[in-house]
Amino acid sequence: MIKIENLKKIYQSGEVEVAAIRQLDFTIAENEFVAIMGPSGSGKSTLMNILGCLDQPSSGNYYLDNNLVSSMSDDELAKVRNRDIGFVFQTFHLQPRLDAIRNVMLPLRYSDVDKEAAKARSIAMLQRVGLGERMEHRPSELSGGQRQRIAIARALVNEPKIIFADEPTGNLDSKTSIEIMDLFTELHNKGQTIVLVTHEREIADYADKIIHMRDGLIEEVEYVQKIHCTRAS
Ligand SMILES: Nc1ncnc2c1ncn2[C@@H]1O[C@H](COP(=O)(O)OP(=O)(O)OP(=O)(O)O)[C@@H](O)[C@H]1O
Ligand SMILES: [Mg+2]
Repeated sequence: MIKIENLKKIYQSGEVEVAAIRQLDFTIAENEFVAIMGPSGSGKSTLMNILGCLDQPSSGNYYLDNNLVSSMSDDELAKVRNRDIGFVFQTFHLQPRLDAIRNVMLPLRYSDVDKEAAKARSIAMLQRVGLGERMEHRPSELSGGQRQRIAIARALVNEPKIIFADEPTGNLDSKTSIEIMDLFTELHNKGQTIVLVTHEREIADYADKIIHMRDGLIEEVEYVQKIHCTRAS
């Protein structure tokens, strides 16, 4: 689904060049659940922004579904961003004036889904992420975990091929983080491809594969051993 070849990203800040991504090569298959870990400044968010087509690399190739992203027109890129990619941020990025339903409806605004259908789909998606009860509340009236559920519902409403989440549990307590990770696991079990960035080993352990980054390079790719057990409740 994703193929990265010889990717580099250099930021120019004034006179100084910062090589945020020095060299990356990897692939991500359909229905893979990948975590990206690494110290602060190792290039994780830079990579996620490139993968999410929010930013462009300085050089190298990014193939999304066999299409070379750098060869896409702005129109095509906007379509890919809207249709194929769902993005979840650490700080939720919700519209404060809109209730949960209207926040989730936002990505459908420029699609050919009419308003009633968009609303129905948003409600269904909020129910799926466990927020069926509080759909008419604004973000400020909801907890961090509930806000992140809205953001996840919004990322999912277009049924994207892939979800990118940059530290989705970074602002949540550990209990709420587990709830959100259980939700990602459920989505993954239903076929969703997920790539998420985290600082925490316990969060990364939910993934199948962990890409460890350091100084803009891959240090190690680790396959997570899943121990199957029934959780005591
Ligand atoms: N817009 C920018 N202009 C210049 N330098 C930048 C820019 N964005 C990031 N950088 C630099 O690129 C490097 C990688 O940053 P990035 O945000 O990708 O790190 P990160 O791994 O996500 O870190 P964190 O864990 O703190 O979120 C850092 O040295 C950072 O200072
Ligand atoms: Mg970051």
